[in-house]
Amino acid sequence: MEESPFVFPDPKPYRGRWHEVFGNTRPIYIEVGMGKGQFLTALAQLHPEINYIGIEKYSSVLVRALEKLEELRLPNLYLIRMDAEELTEVFAPEEVSLIYLNFSDPWPKDRHAKRRLTSAAYFDRYNQILIPEGRVEFKTDHQDLFSFSEASVLEAGWTLELSTRDLHHSPYAQGNVMTEYEERFSSMGNPICKLIASRNGTAGKSAKPPESESAAGEQRIE
Ligand SMILES: C[S@@+](CC[C@H](N)C(=O)[O-])C[C@H]1O[C@@H](n2cnc3c(N)ncnc32)[C@H](O)[C@@H]1O
Repeated sequence: MEESPFVFPDPKPYRGRWHEVFGNTRPIYIEVGMGKGQFLTALAQLHPEINYIGIEKYSSVLVRALEKLEELRLPNLYLIRMDAEELTEVFAPEEVSLIYLNFSDPWPKDRHAKRRLTSAAYFDRYNQILIPEGRVEFKTDHQDLFSFSEASVLEAGWTLELSTRDLHHSPYAQGNVMTEYEERFSSMGNPICKLIASRNGTAGKSAKPPESESAAGEQRIE
């Protein structure tokens, strides 16, 4: 893995230089906690006009995503091994256009709430690296984590562009790209929740239409 051209095990020197790494000025979308990479490898093939970076804390998981990438050799997808706590040390202000959080660990104990990737402390980190019209898209089947996340968005002073507790039976199901965990939990009958958050409701007014897997152009609170 250390020698793979697709993985950055020591990403901090590239802060502010990720567009140079891709060799273009296309928007950069990241997934924090990418797991084995099913979601981003699918998106990167669907959207060659977007640069994607998958972030994963554990090498043992990242290596599975790397196996897929070595096979597909996509020019618009790189992987970073890092803890999300260090996001602002790896990305410069306004370097990222969109952040995906999919089936993030729920950390159910109250004393671990700050570790949740949708805590207000994390929204502060996202605020520092996103472009002004940037957004965060979060999917989970965990109802309590979803309620916590909706509250965090508002606590952080962001706007909920979309919030649904049954994505797959909503108008936003069209074009939805499933993650590994999403496939697993929805096949067990669990409804999938999704929210989209932006600063000052700017995501829906972005000059460029959103390129997410969702019908994000029709965002609405349900
Ligand atoms: C439950 S899995 C979901 C994987 C994938 N997103 C999906 O939906 O199939 C959560 C992943 O996030 C990673 N993760 C958890 N906390 C993280 C952190 N602080 N920084 C980076 N990755 C993290 C875990 O190692 C795990 O691979």
